[in-house]
Amino acid sequence: MIKENDFPSISNADKPNAGRIYDYILGGNHNFEIDRMAAQKVLELLPFAPQLFRLIRWFLREAVMRLSSQGYKHFIDFASGLPTMDHIHEVTPKGTKVIYSDIDSVVVAYAHDIIKDNPDVKFVHCNAGVPEELLDSDIPEQLFGNNRDAAVGFNGIAYFLPDDKVAHFMRTLYDWTGDNAKLFFCDTDAPENPKEDLQRFLEIYKKLNQPVYSRKKEKMLELIKPWKVDDPGIMLLEDWVDVKTKVTEELTGKWQGGGIYGAILKK
Ligand SMILES: C[S@@+](CC[C@H](N)C(=O)[O-])C[C@H]1O[C@@H](n2cnc3c(N)ncnc32)[C@H](O)[C@@H]1O
Repeated sequence: MIKENDFPSISNADKPNAGRIYDYILGGNHNFEIDRMAAQKVLELLPFAPQLFRLIRWFLREAVMRLSSQGYKHFIDFASGLPTMDHIHEVTPKGTKVIYSDIDSVVVAYAHDIIKDNPDVKFVHCNAGVPEELLDSDIPEQLFGNNRDAAVGFNGIAYFLPDDKVAHFMRTLYDWTGDNAKLFFCDTDAPENPKEDLQRFLEIYKKLNQPVYSRKKEKMLELIKPWKVDDPGIMLLEDWVDVKTKVTEELTGKWQGGGIYGAILKK
């Protein structure tokens, strides 16, 4: 059984970490020199990475605000990264309960330092490929009671998991949640032949022990079953209403013929 505080101290900063690199590129300040050095390599190869990463967080913000306005008060989020920069508990009304999780123990330890003793928020260790680690723990009941009509976050993680793990995640969450649950996610629609800079970017993530899996949107639509796509459909992130107001010309079309698309799913 997972325990919330079973993790190493945040001083464990001898290796760059994908979550803290993401935080740095988003403009956050929860990162170390070693992360900033790795982030500089990412930025040399993909100078538009800050806009790209922000796009993912802007979509999360829009999906969460839509779900919150539909009445969702319980959020359970996988592969959260650090709970900063417009993350769920920062954009939902006070009293909304949020369970965040991440596979990286350094991110978990750092996150505890950030959320402190907020009674509405938990941050636990969980591999999104094995969501039972979290679902079978007593954390959901502690925060949500018996209500499982939750909004589930699976944002910016599908491309870090192979197909069978994505399918397992979708099925497991479908079975665990209540009939009115919803789930939001985004994934990349990878270009057929990535150019050299994109390939080198993918190499950096492989070295961070975080390989990136490319799949076509059609494949992802198979993997989400039995969830169904809810309104307004599955769309490129820059086409979502609230995201659209933030995107600059500079970003459009940079993903070399692919793109990142997102959707909210229902039962
Ligand atoms: C792109 S970032 C965070 C995305 C965040 N959900 C958002 O929408 O802004 C990816 C995070 O996924 C975490 N991660 C990678 N593989 C994971 C896995 N198998 N299970 C859980 N977390 C994972 C990394 O540690 C990192 O913090």
